[in-house]
Amino acid sequence: MNKQAGIKHAVIPAAGLGTRFLPATKAIPKEMLPVVDKPAIQYVVEEAYLAGFTDVLLITGHNKGALVDHFAQAPELEQTLHARGDAERLTALRHLNTLPPLHTVRQESARGLGDAVLSAAEHVGDSPFAVLLGDDLIEPSDLLWQKMLDVHARYGGSVLALMEVSDDDVSKYGIAAISGTDPARVLDLVEKPSKAEAPSNYAIIGRYILSPAIFSVLRHTSAGKGGEVQLTDAIAALARDEQIGGPVHAVVVNVRRFDTGDRLSYLKTVVEFATRREDLGPDFAKWLKGYVRELND
Ligand code: UTP
Repeated sequence: MNKQAGIKHAVIPAAGLGTRFLPATKAIPKEMLPVVDKPAIQYVVEEAYLAGFTDVLLITGHNKGALVDHFAQAPELEQTLHARGDAERLTALRHLNTLPPLHTVRQESARGLGDAVLSAAEHVGDSPFAVLLGDDLIEPSDLLWQKMLDVHARYGGSVLALMEVSDDDVSKYGIAAISGTDPARVLDLVEKPSKAEAPSNYAIIGRYILSPAIFSVLRHTSAGKGGEVQLTDAIAALARDEQIGGPVHAVVVNVRRFDTGDRLSYLKTVVEFATRREDLGPDFAKWLKGYVRELND
């Protein structure tokens, strides 16, 4: 249970089709793509536990096997590493077993993020909960969660995380109309607007604290942009009528966000995470500098 705001549940949707990354994501979820030597989903699950959420629910889709296997025990592999005396890899593997057991629920078909979150309704029940998108890595996330949980403890309702994006990028995100700052009050939201339609340059990033009232709104939310049930549309309904599930606030943050479901962003993520690693970083950075010099010649 998160002490600050009494929030226990974290929901991690990982049931999208990952079409932008085909064919790599034909048989495995995009959340299983490795960022150096850990799949993206592991960073997100670790972040959820670090933030203090004790009950983590993975929303899985048609190719859930690899996701579930990744967090399951692997006695044979452990025995082999043990027999080989490979303590380093054994520790990395055993670390996974120290995470509390995950819960999973299956989204019947990939009808959109809103529908994925709705499939958590029974498990979460009638209490506020966190949502972390399984393909979005955020750094540093500890400060972000502290801020969001503080705002939730003060105002209840729902809390979003916003970052400022350029005019050219508004059409990739849910964009918020807000008033005030620190925290901002969210008045409305538009999913992937054109430059002309965008009410601001404040984009939703993949971390949310949601009122359980979102579930009844989602049950009545029809497909929106892209023919998918959009979480943004349901949160917009909460923002426009505080009677439904309390106010919607937002913290505006300047964190680094990595969308591992987008090929270009994924490549940048791997390079950044690799250069920051103590073990691989120095060698990799040395090679990278040389390679960049070659590219410039
Ligand atoms: P995205 O929109 O990035 O996922 O969803 P996608 O639909 O798989 O992407 P592309 O465009 O086809 O490449 C953001 C998050 O919501 C989850 C995804 O797994 C990702 O973590 N999601 C999306 C679901 O769980 N179910 C869905 O129906 C859609």
